[in-house]
Amino acid sequence: MVDDVSRILSGDLEDEQDLVIEGSLRPRSLAEYIGQAEVKANLSVLLQAAKARGEASDHILLYGPPGLGKTTLATIVARELGVNVRYTSGPAIERAGDLAAILTSLDERDVLFIDEVHRLNRAVEEILYPAMEDYALDVMIGKGPSARSLRLNLKPFTLVGATTRAGRISSPLRDRFGATYRLDFYTEDELAQIIDRSAEILGVSIDAAATRAIARRGRGTPRIVNRLLKRVRDYAQVHGDGRVHEASAREAMRQLEIDDEGLDSADRKLLAAVVQKFASGPVGVSALAAVLSEETDTIEDVHEPFLLRLGFMDRTPQGRVVTDLGRAHLAALGYEIPPPRRSDGGMPSLWDEPQVPEA
Ligand code: ADE
Repeated sequence: MVDDVSRILSGDLEDEQDLVIEGSLRPRSLAEYIGQAEVKANLSVLLQAAKARGEASDHILLYGPPGLGKTTLATIVARELGVNVRYTSGPAIERAGDLAAILTSLDERDVLFIDEVHRLNRAVEEILYPAMEDYALDVMIGKGPSARSLRLNLKPFTLVGATTRAGRISSPLRDRFGATYRLDFYTEDELAQIIDRSAEILGVSIDAAATRAIARRGRGTPRIVNRLLKRVRDYAQVHGDGRVHEASAREAMRQLEIDDEGLDSADRKLLAAVVQKFASGPVGVSALAAVLSEETDTIEDVHEPFLLRLGFMDRTPQGRVVTDLGRAHLAALGYEIPPPRRSDGGMPSLWDEPQVPEA
């Protein structure tokens, strides 16, 4: 149950079925795509210009938290350019030869999507530099002193790279992307539009208040609202006539342990650990990961971004802190709240040692 809950909120795509269901709900063109207005406007110019010149587009780097539409946008880029797209990921390309095989199989102006592009290993990344810059593949022939490098031409292609954080990419790789776009969390209004669109595709009858209730708990993430919509639909089917109303939507999400702000049990556990075990912080992410038996990447990529956005958490040079707002949220849910080391989790305040008065 908890596994299922954390999967709903993780924003990760865990299995084939997710991909299939997600696929049917994904927008297929920029016109159908809701939200990310600035990214859409910039992409539209980039793609129209490349298409009009009959060239491959510049390489595109997309970054932002999981579930915000990076894979969807890569697919749309290919569609808008009228070419094929090939999907892979940083960890899936183990050897330089694997990437060489992919690059040589691309057709003129195709799109290559590499998810988690920050996880490419060094040898593979080095193959990518000349490929991105000159559409060239440098292969080593022979070994030792007689080894030489042979340059093969590739067909022009567009690399769309995706990562959760741009800062994780090596700077030589980052410099080779001509266009970099940051995807941000969606507003509640945008999520409500996405829910209505998905409900129509899935044939679910849902009222406006229920749509709002899901959008509010969707953590700014389309993938999460789409999953919540399906769980809420199941609930309405089992406990009612299949139509989704606000009460059944709320009850379904309560059963999934999702609170009014969209936090799941793992988020609350994280907040509570900082508050109760580290006096609201500051605490380093590795200490937190150890206490929670969680990966630091999961904390940083999945949980933290939304807690920061809600203003429940702050990152300071000394570490993570839970804010007054975060403590109030936990207190309202009945958690015990010990006094914080610093009242606002960062700035000096009345809770701190008195300052020495000026002479
Ligand atoms: N489904 C998932 N993400 C979407 C988006 N950004 N726009 C429309 N439908 C979506």
